Amino acid sequence: MKKTVLVSGGAGFIGSHVTVELIQSGYDVIIADDFSNCDRTNYNGVCQITGRQLPLVEMDFCDIAAVRKLFIDNKIDAVIHFAAFKAVGESVSDPLKYYTNNLGSFLNVLQMAREQGCNVLFSSSATVYGEPEELPVTENSPRQPATSAYGNTKQMCEDFLRDCVAAYPGVRGIALRYFNPIGAHPSALIGELPRGVPNNLVPFITQTAIGKRECLSIFGNDYPTEDGTCKRDYIDIVDLAKAHVCAVARMLDDRMEQPYEIFNIGTGRPLSVLELVNAFEKVNGIKLNWKFAPRRAGDVVAIWADPSLANEKLGWKAERSTEETLAAAWAWEKRLAGKQ
Ligand code: UD1
Repeated sequence: MKKTVLVSGGAGFIGSHVTVELIQSGYDVIIADDFSNCDRTNYNGVCQITGRQLPLVEMDFCDIAAVRKLFIDNKIDAVIHFAAFKAVGESVSDPLKYYTNNLGSFLNVLQMAREQGCNVLFSSSATVYGEPEELPVTENSPRQPATSAYGNTKQMCEDFLRDCVAAYPGVRGIALRYFNPIGAHPSALIGELPRGVPNNLVPFITQTAIGKRECLSIFGNDYPTEDGTCKRDYIDIVDLAKAHVCAVARMLDDRMEQPYEIFNIGTGRPLSVLELVNAFEKVNGIKLNWKFAPRRAGDVVAIWADPSLANEKLGWKAERSTEETLAAAWAWEKRLAGKQ
């Protein structure tokens, strides 16, 4: 019997790539999305890549009646929860928007996991580590007080999951802490679709390269790093998606060692902003227009993962090179612009 995975926020950047990998690994997937932060491009792309018209439920996960109906109408073996707002700056100016939506929707997922007995995979973030004292960070590195409501929701949802798993038999959970997901599917049929001016580095780079933005600002050149720019662990979106398949299989095949587990999902290879920009220019043969600008508030100097726990326990490893990832990101931007 095929197992069914519910992917909330399945039409978004990460959700769409995860859906493709789940289908290609033999799972049935139900996509739920309210299209509040994306259009149908990625949903259509997922159907094209998989050659299937995938079940799509247009709904808001804060609506408990709709969530309950979904769980009662379908036998759901695991739920992967992506349905959340993700703009860090906006979460500082409008925290209630983030607390209401991101916490409310996840509480509904947990309520249904309790009622129906279901495995829960939560999409957490390296943001929970704040500015780490030691690098690379392991899952045992201490969490730091969040500096944004967005970051706070990630910490709170991790704790909600931990407590529900401890209290309710039949609920098991994994939190994956993503480092910096970038890139696009090699088919260029799905990718990142930022609304308005991108906050994240790679969409800003590709939009500058295509001519949608005039110039990339590199935020800060006086950080205590080799070249003065911040260092991050950029993880390919397809590699990241595959980690979800490994985590779902671990839950559904009864291989968890604890009922609640946490894994870092990163490459373990730090890159500075300048190194990433140089790699993008080199692999795509493009001269990017960029300049140094003041530091951005809230940025940590450097963070990268120790991914050895995920390597060992999930049997997962980041495989794609930064060059492949940056070429895919550029192919996606060109396709969006209708140039390919
Ligand atoms: C950010 C969020 C993180 C979230 C992640 C989702 C913060 C503090 N962190 O991570 O919580 O999970 O996005 O993808 O917002 N940069 C530039 N110019 C730009 C954009 C970025 O120089 O136009 C630099 C940043 O200063 C940073 C690096 O590029 O050093 C990566 O930035 P970004 O892609 O926004 O990711 P994070 O800030 O690491």
